[in-house]
Amino acid sequence: MWMSVDRKSAVPMTRQLYGRIREEILSGRLHPGARLPSSRELASRLQISRNVVLEAYDLLYAEGFLAPKQGDGTYVASGAAFTGPARKAPPVVEKVTMGYDCPPGVINFRAGTPNLKMFPTKLWLQMVKEVLLLPPEEMFAYGHPEGRQELRQAICEYVVSQREVVCHPEQIVITAGTTQAIGIACHLLIGKRLDVVLEDPITRDIQLIVKSHGAILHAVPVDSDGMRTAELPLPLNPTFVYATPSHQFPIGGTMPIQRRIELLRYAETTGAFIIEDDYDSEFRFDGPPLSSLHGLHPDRVVYIGTFSKTLCPAIRIGYLILPPQLIGLGRSRKWQSDLHNEVTSQLALARFIRLGHYLRHVTRMRKHYQQKRNDMAVTLTQRFGTRMEILGSATGLHLVARFPGCEFTQHFFAATEAAGARFYPVATHAMKLGTHRDELLLGYGNISSEEIRVGLAILAKHLDHYRRVPAPS
Ligand SMILES: Cc1ncc(COP(=O)(O)O)c(C=O)c1O
Repeated sequence: MWMSVDRKSAVPMTRQLYGRIREEILSGRLHPGARLPSSRELASRLQISRNVVLEAYDLLYAEGFLAPKQGDGTYVASGAAFTGPARKAPPVVEKVTMGYDCPPGVINFRAGTPNLKMFPTKLWLQMVKEVLLLPPEEMFAYGHPEGRQELRQAICEYVVSQREVVCHPEQIVITAGTTQAIGIACHLLIGKRLDVVLEDPITRDIQLIVKSHGAILHAVPVDSDGMRTAELPLPLNPTFVYATPSHQFPIGGTMPIQRRIELLRYAETTGAFIIEDDYDSEFRFDGPPLSSLHGLHPDRVVYIGTFSKTLCPAIRIGYLILPPQLIGLGRSRKWQSDLHNEVTSQLALARFIRLGHYLRHVTRMRKHYQQKRNDMAVTLTQRFGTRMEILGSATGLHLVARFPGCEFTQHFFAATEAAGARFYPVATHAMKLGTHRDELLLGYGNISSEEIRVGLAILAKHLDHYRRVPAPS
């Protein structure tokens, strides 16, 4: 048996020796029943310590490569040869991208990212330090799928006082953001009834999640007042209607009470639930936040909230508020999915809310985003005047700019990105193909006012190339 070890390698000598013998056995070059040299002999041949050989042999015994010890010899076990697809080097894999990465230096108008530089890091660190002083049994053990009681209590008080939600902490399940909450809701509600009604447009991610549960999607168009409830599909018995009544994503409308009532009546008549996605209504600039739909009919509405916009998306904390008959199933689905959310940030967040830091942070951020919204709206108007229309700018971290007569193409997006600004089409989120092609989704949450100005100058420079030439009359 020819063998050597590399004394300069970062791989310990035991692992090297084990690996070489293992390779010989797997390849069949050392066949079953072959006798290995004694540990003393091999150590002397390789000029290494005998302990290294003994440890390598022990590992090979433990994994079944060597036959159970009998007498004084060391023998190769039978059935250990395998020339399958084992690789020495990792495979060459193409970079898999979900399209989130933006090249450095490019101004990113992506919607929905809050100002990451304004995350309250110091305060958060203080909260984390304080909760880490709790007894280890509190902090480091397995917990309950619905999440920490302290956080559910704090969220309950917040949504009851700020969002007119009607609920008890026991109805709340802490989730890894809205995304997981939607998955859980789909799991609970999509069974025999496969029809689901969605606003059109609505985030593509949401369409994909709902579809992945086997649902049949039905689109209801939106306008500046959110979902056009007069167009809710009939006759149909959907399992749920998905709605963003406080701030339609992406078009930005808010649903007036008449449409909310119409939607609730539809849900009652058809036996559907309503999933209310309340993702960024805290940032309403031209008046106080609107009340939730939940408070009007708590038994029919599954409410979903998130901290992705008010704090940061990386924290991955959101929540589901379930009607009583879905609580048990909701908890068990969360448990099957990932047992429960990570505990330290749940407790830190509970403390952050209870001490009043959360409301103060939201108030500060609202003023900040209002300024950005103003900068974006003013610059758009200066640059494009009446050639462009702004939609849905009263709330949130984005607005929509419509450029009648334009049709934004892949070529346009590639050209503006090459010039230094990445823009996003509303059309990506449209369920009805070919609609919303003259609209851009402009996020301002995580870019500076200067970047807004520079980015919109790039937009202006490129826009005229993409304006459709009017047909000759
Ligand atoms: C409509 C809508 N709901 C919710 C979210 C937030 O998702 P999450 O809480 O999983 O970060 C987003 C993210 O952009 C969104 O567009």
